[in-house]
Amino acid sequence: MDSAPYDDADMELAPPHPADRARSEAAEEGERLQKVLARAGVGSRRVVENMVDQGRISVNGAVVTVQGMRVDPLRDRIAVDGSRIELRDDTVTYALNKPAGVITAMSDDRNRPTVGDMVGDLAPGLVHVGRLDQDTEGLLLVTNDGELAHRLAHPSYEVKKTYLAQVSGSVPRDLGRRLRAGVQLDDGPVKVDSFRLVDTHAGQSVVEVVLHEGRKHIVRRLLAAVGLPVSRLTRTAVGPVRLERMRSGSIRRLTRAELGALADTVGL
Ligand code: URA
Repeated sequence: MDSAPYDDADMELAPPHPADRARSEAAEEGERLQKVLARAGVGSRRVVENMVDQGRISVNGAVVTVQGMRVDPLRDRIAVDGSRIELRDDTVTYALNKPAGVITAMSDDRNRPTVGDMVGDLAPGLVHVGRLDQDTEGLLLVTNDGELAHRLAHPSYEVKKTYLAQVSGSVPRDLGRRLRAGVQLDDGPVKVDSFRLVDTHAGQSVVEVVLHEGRKHIVRRLLAAVGLPVSRLTRTAVGPVRLERMRSGSIRRLTRAELGALADTVGL
């Protein structure tokens, strides 16, 4: 028998087992520890960062010493002060087509119809993302992902919302330029990101306005300020999510693609 010594360095490495490869890719991509723990209700990102500084968090038994570590919430064992945290991602996000007349609230002590009535008990902990006026119809997002809701509604993320407004009066040719330059309102100036005349007929026009403002009645006030009172207002998109052909009063779960695009929009 040939008993020539062999050298480890000459051995070919076996290709990684597919399960190992998938696991290491997931860990590379992963999700930031602060985000995962914020979603699990441990505390805000700032609180989690403080916990890391204090050495209170461990991943798979090892104390975390760096900020921004990426983890795989489905596989890694993450513990705070030695207690394992349950990390299943059971967040859900829905799009609904709010009809006019429904108020943007999860409940109402005056028994008016609410968004809460529309979602019923689809999932625990749902909140609406921002608000639409009682008379405004169209796309409203509802989620139990607290961080997503916070970011989508926070002005610093400048999430664009698209509205179709039916207005009385004819639309001056230079209106788009004026709206993009900015219009002074009682509580400060407002600018649109884009403006388009969609249709005009018998003294009524339909215009599309895109803006990243969340101030109360902002579209109605903006258009009234340029002499175009709004008789009907519909939100048709929030960031990359579009109302498309949803029937009034209907609800649907966002697709994976929409969730990904939404997360990208707010840097999650
Ligand atoms: N702007 C408004 O005036 N109303 C809404 O509901 C949303 C934006």
